[in-house]
Amino acid sequence: MDKLLIAGGVPLSGEVAISGAKNAALPLLCAALLTREAVTFTNVPHLNDIGTMLKLLAQMGVKVAREAARVGAGDTVTLDASGLDNAVAPYEMVKTMRASILVLGPLVARTGEAKVSLPGGCAIGARPVDQHIKGLTAMGAEIAVEHGYVHARATRLKGARLFTDMVTVTGTENLMMAACLAEGETVIENAAREPEVVDLANCLVAMGARISGAGGDVIRIQGVDALHGATHRIMPDRIETGTYLCAAAATGGEIRLTGASATSLDAVIDKLMDTGCEIIAERDAIRLKAPRRLTAVSIRTAPYPAFPTDMQAQFMAINAVADGTAVMRETIFENRFMHAVELIRLGADIKIDGNTAFVKGVPKLDGATVMATDLRASASLVIAGLVAQGETLIERIYHLDRGYEGLEQKLAALGANIRRVK
Ligand code: EPZ
Repeated sequence: MDKLLIAGGVPLSGEVAISGAKNAALPLLCAALLTREAVTFTNVPHLNDIGTMLKLLAQMGVKVAREAARVGAGDTVTLDASGLDNAVAPYEMVKTMRASILVLGPLVARTGEAKVSLPGGCAIGARPVDQHIKGLTAMGAEIAVEHGYVHARATRLKGARLFTDMVTVTGTENLMMAACLAEGETVIENAAREPEVVDLANCLVAMGARISGAGGDVIRIQGVDALHGATHRIMPDRIETGTYLCAAAATGGEIRLTGASATSLDAVIDKLMDTGCEIIAERDAIRLKAPRRLTAVSIRTAPYPAFPTDMQAQFMAINAVADGTAVMRETIFENRFMHAVELIRLGADIKIDGNTAFVKGVPKLDGATVMATDLRASASLVIAGLVAQGETLIERIYHLDRGYEGLEQKLAALGANIRRVK
């Protein structure tokens, strides 16, 4: 199994391009199930999770055409679901990527039935999908959960007033997609406001859907009889952007990220400026210049536009070497501090109490062998490895390949001493 070997201590400098967003691309690819016409996506990140989703759609009878591009330039993917004939998402595929649940809404809305494996738990939490099921049931779907599968049936979904018990990103996306072909109006209250939800809504509107309010906590969808084809450029990945900004901040570097959008990263940029970083937002790029030593910053994760849980681990890595003590509260997932014990192996001073981590910055970290446990945890270990003295070996980096396109190439382009080893 591949590992990453990093010799730390090099301040990052230079320029790299940000890729398309994984968490926008996954629901967008599922949206193609809603029409018989071809949908083309550009700026598609070249990631393992995207590959898994394309395989899942292909085994349903969707024609998939993919033009790969160089790292950071974004693939072009065309999907044609006119031959959709197998509304099933098998366990073997869903277990590798829980976002597969995003086929449920579009399948039952388009074909009147769907059989989708329940995604199991994951390293960061139980992550049930009860709100997805509750919403579809309220829209008139008959749903049975048997033998680990969600079986959904509906002659035609009916518009309804939906309220989710908590803000759920993929829950909002699943229900919004389903509502596009329902009879009448659907209102989703307590909706997720993430930029990826807005990117999906924009594409659905380009396909002929009638949606208003995306980006706010109340979304209205007027159902239509059919959607048509479209071409959609996927938004830049704000979490990948935030990760590179943190890597530059932690190493005392100065970088420019092209194809990045600062508007979707306000809470993160705000906190990075509190650490003492200088940040310049250009129309289509972001510059960061780090201070000699960062100042520790406390954070509390919460749904957008608050501080994203997907950036918590990376901030733990920068707080590990900052001046002062940070209090970090994780309010979204019940088990998202797995990276803390690995950072402690590198010499960090971290105490965990329930959903709160107390991180006391230390002057230096020392390289060691560490293990990645989930996607963002592995990103925090990469950042710590770039700072640590000596060599850091990161095991189980398949987690990284799921969500970061060409990570070691991009970091090497910024001067990092990093390579993949067997
Ligand atoms: C999305 O996951 C992202 N994944 C996650 O990114 C991200 O961490 C998360 O949103 C929060 O921002 C994708 O977009 C593919 P939720 P999602 O439903 O939609 C509970 C990454 O690193 N909940 O918003 O699955 C749930 O357990 C990944 O790229 C229910 O209880 O997250 C959690 O505590 C990791 N029942 C909370 O709500 C439900 O039916 C928020 O989860 C749905 C959710």
